[in-house]
Amino acid sequence: MPLPGPSITPAPDWTSEDAWVGTRRPILEAHALPSEAYVDDAFFALEQDRVFGTSWVCVGIADELDPVGQVLVRDLGGRSVLITRNGNGELRGFANTCRHRGTQLVEADCTLGRTIRCPYHRWGYDRDGVLVATPQFADAGIDRFDPADYGLHTVRVEQWGCLLFATLDDSAPSVPEWFGDLGQRLAGYRLADWRSHQTQVLEIAANWKLISENFQEYYHLRWVHPELAKVSRVEDHYRYQGDGMYCGQTTTPISSDERGDWDALRPAEGLDSSDITSGRFIALFPNVVLSVLPNHAVVMRLEPLAPGLTRETCTWLLPPGSEDVPDEDFAVTRDFWLTINGEDIDIVERGQLGLQGGGYTPGRLSPRFEEPLHRFHNMLADRMTGTHRIPAGDLADDLPLHGTGVNPLPWRGAPGHPLPTP
Ligand code: FES
Ligand SMILES: [Fe+2]
Repeated sequence: MPLPGPSITPAPDWTSEDAWVGTRRPILEAHALPSEAYVDDAFFALEQDRVFGTSWVCVGIADELDPVGQVLVRDLGGRSVLITRNGNGELRGFANTCRHRGTQLVEADCTLGRTIRCPYHRWGYDRDGVLVATPQFADAGIDRFDPADYGLHTVRVEQWGCLLFATLDDSAPSVPEWFGDLGQRLAGYRLADWRSHQTQVLEIAANWKLISENFQEYYHLRWVHPELAKVSRVEDHYRYQGDGMYCGQTTTPISSDERGDWDALRPAEGLDSSDITSGRFIALFPNVVLSVLPNHAVVMRLEPLAPGLTRETCTWLLPPGSEDVPDEDFAVTRDFWLTINGEDIDIVERGQLGLQGGGYTPGRLSPRFEEPLHRFHNMLADRMTGTHRIPAGDLADDLPLHGTGVNPLPWRGAPGHPLPTP
C-alpha cells in the first residue's frame, strides 16, 4: 500500500463525532487513534481545554500536604491552581492569580505561613482564600470596597485514597462517582493510610496518552520486558474494569518462582485472599497510572507539557508499618521498577518518533490485549466531543476474561485459561 502523502484535506473537527468514527466502532472493528492526537499542536490545545480543563485531574499524593502551610502549584488545562489545607486541615483549591491586578501568587510548591502573599502590592489571603490584608489600601481614598468581594476564586479539590484531585468543572460529579466502583474494588488496601517513600520526576519525549496506553496493555510484555514477564506472566493478566473513569487489569498470581523482586517488602495488614496475591494496574483517566501490589504501590502522575513531552512524577508508597523498611529491601523493588519503566520510556519515545515521522494511518487493536485502550480512547472522544458520561463496566459476556465480583480472583478454566495442573 503506498505511503499516504501530505494531507490536503482540512484538519478534522475534533469536537465532532465525525472525527471519531474509528474509535467509536466496537473493539472488534476499532482503530487506534490518528497521529494528530499525539503530535498536533491544535489537538493538544483543544485537549488541554476539553480534557484537562473539565476532568478530575490528579494533582499529587495526599501526604504532600502534610506540612502545615504546604502549597502545591499545578496546571489544570493551562490554568494555574493552588492546592493547600486550611487551618483546620481541610482541602482548599484556588486560582493562582491575585484579585487585585492578577499577579501570579505562588511560583512553585512551597511551605507558607498563615498567609498567601502577592509579591506585587502585598495583598494577603488566608488559606481559606479570604482577603485579609491590603496594605495602605484603606488610606488610598477608595469607595465601596469590601474585601469579602475579593477572596481568591475557588477550585474544587478532593482526596481519594492516597491521591489528590482537582477540577475546574463545577458541575463534575464527585471523585467517588467519577471512579465508579473502583473505590470499592480497592477498599481493602486502605490506600489513604499508605505513605510516600520515594519520588522521582522524569521528562519523557512522548505524548501523555502513549505513556498511559503502554501501561494499559500487556501485549508488549514479552518483547519489551523479558525480565518482568518472568514475574508477571502474560497468561496471569485479566481485565479489571467496572463502571468508572478508569481502565484496569489485574495480575494473579503476582509473582512466579523465577524472580522475587516484588517479594522483598512486607505486605500490608488485613488484605483478603485476592488482594494478597494480586497486582492491580489501573489507568485513572486522564493522568495517572497506578500500580497496587500487596506490599507497595507506584503512582505515576502525568503532566502534558507539549504534544511530544510529558512530565512523569513517580511515587513509591508503602503501607502502614513499613516506615523502618531497610533501604536495601526497598531498593530491590524500586530498582526493578526503574528497569521496567526505563524499557517503557524507550518504547513510548520510539512510538512518538514513529507518529511524528508522518505516514501513520490508524491501525487495529487486539481485542484480547488492548481492549483497555479502546475504553480509554472512547473516554477521550467523549471529553473532546463534550459528552460527559462515565463508562459502564465490561459486558457480562466478557467476564471470563477479567474475573467476577469485587476484587475477584481471576476466573480459571475459560478457554485459554486452563485450571492449573496439580
Ligand atoms: S497584583 Fe497582587 S497585590 Fe497588586
Ligand atoms: Fe511496559
